[in-house]
Amino acid sequence: MNVGSNGIPARELPLSARAPGKCIVFGEHAVVHGAPELVFAIDLSTQVFVKKSETNRLNADSEGTRRNDYFRSALELAWKDHSPVDVRAISRIPKAAGLGSSAAFVASLAAVLSSASGGIDRPRLAQQSFEIERAAQGVGSPGDTSTAVAGGFVAINGGSGELLWSIRAPERQWDVRRVSDPGWVWVVAYSGIPRSTAEAVRAVGARLGAPGGPELLEEFRRVAKHGIDALGRGDRSSVAELLKKNQELLREVGVSHPRLEALLEAAAPASEGAKLTGAGAGGSVVALPVPGKEAELVRRLARAGGLPFVVRPVPDGASLVEG
Ligand code: PMV
Repeated sequence: MNVGSNGIPARELPLSARAPGKCIVFGEHAVVHGAPELVFAIDLSTQVFVKKSETNRLNADSEGTRRNDYFRSALELAWKDHSPVDVRAISRIPKAAGLGSSAAFVASLAAVLSSASGGIDRPRLAQQSFEIERAAQGVGSPGDTSTAVAGGFVAINGGSGELLWSIRAPERQWDVRRVSDPGWVWVVAYSGIPRSTAEAVRAVGARLGAPGGPELLEEFRRVAKHGIDALGRGDRSSVAELLKKNQELLREVGVSHPRLEALLEAAAPASEGAKLTGAGAGGSVVALPVPGKEAELVRRLARAGGLPFVVRPVPDGASLVEG
């Protein structure tokens, strides 16, 4: 297959690939319903090592395909050969924290299996990773998987940058565009509370379908659109204000949490703006530090019981680790 200049080339097993986690700046949840979203790939990644085996195994567990829906659907959708494989996954991304651990696992595993199936170009890898995540999770948008495949900053259904690809689902299509990185440092803090993305997505879907829901969705759309434009022109103070507005909307649709609110309050004196990131109901917050107060922000978040990290956007998406 012609995989294009930056696709995943054909190789034989054993193989390894890596893909980054992600941080959503604007638009989570609303993106599921077609509104814009802004996401960037972070410098925490998942790496998979895949070799032939007598039975399908994930991290030495021969029940892996039964226990892990993502593993099972990746084998079903990305593996032409269907012979058994042994997969080892190593990740520095906290699980169920809103930082894209499942998308990074799916994109890195799909990259390996597609490479061993003859190679794949990036738009197809993005579509395939979305379908694997959707099959495992039942609901959701392509924001996480497309970011794990593209790297850098991406806008879903927004912005005016290069169109990387369009992702199709039976109910709608999402356009994925490149946004340039303004070069800022971001701080993320995990609340320590894991949660289910699918449950949160269903609950927000019900809220947006109830009276007043369409108006709320319109507000999400407006905030994310302005946020993408503001970040694109490096307008930090507008981005910070819009982070706060986006958090108000997320609170209103019921996916904030007392622990997230406590982290946001602790962050306020050292951040220009902050919000939850990902599905919410637990998970993580993201903050734009007051320049020069990055270390203070990290201390404040740790003191408030969070697990903080300074995150740097990384330009590279899923790729084989060769050599
Ligand atoms: O919390 P995460 O990493 O699963 O992010 C989910 C983002 C949502 O918009 C809530 C769902 C989606 O698929 O876009």
